[in-house]
Amino acid sequence: MTVIAIDGTFASGKGTLARKLSEHYNLPHLDTGKLYRAVAKLVLDRKQDPADAKACTEAAQNISAAMLDDVALKSGPVGAAASKVAIHPPVRAALLEFQRNFASKGGVLDGRDIGTVICPDADVKLYINADPKQRAQRRHAELIGYGEDISLKTVLEQLKERDHRDANRPIAPLRPAADAHLIDTTNLSIERAFGAAVTIIDAVLAVKSAKT
Ligand code: DC
Repeated sequence: MTVIAIDGTFASGKGTLARKLSEHYNLPHLDTGKLYRAVAKLVLDRKQDPADAKACTEAAQNISAAMLDDVALKSGPVGAAASKVAIHPPVRAALLEFQRNFASKGGVLDGRDIGTVICPDADVKLYINADPKQRAQRRHAELIGYGEDISLKTVLEQLKERDHRDANRPIAPLRPAADAHLIDTTNLSIERAFGAAVTIIDAVLAVKSAKT
């Protein structure tokens, strides 16, 4: 049973990479950001405040797999609220079991704390990052594609705010695990980033299997 943990910054390309790796290694994929986005959407739909820990925890306790396919989870406002609901420790605790259950059958999980908290014993850990301006450009193009009316400047400001919040929360902050392999996708196409990831994963898995 192979577990591949992929963490990284917002719009670093980790989601696309995780999807491609799950196909390549024939493993199921969980985008854990969707769990936080689903909590955020529920809170916003109920006209509650993402800063309200109690409301967010109650929402987190009512998340099901069926809610994760909602395209509305991809919107900018839901993403921003997801980063806010994610700072509450009881929200993270409520979503832990879902993620560990998924990982127990083997898979590719991507998020912010997979290698550090959710799957500290993952077979391979990757940490994906890229220059903020490039990430903002990628995200801006994506949002325009969804029909949102937003400037590149605003996307860059929101991205920096999100990076800061994700990396500085007291519980499970975004950071590479000590044994994570770093990939900077700033000047890499999706194919090149995928190639780099496969090279790392194959090498790590080969060493592991030689030991057993
Ligand atoms: O990866 P994403 O943009 O869909 O994630 C949305 C927010 O959810 C992100 O800003 C922080 C939070 N998140 C988290 O705290 N832990 C995870 N494993 C995944 C996402």
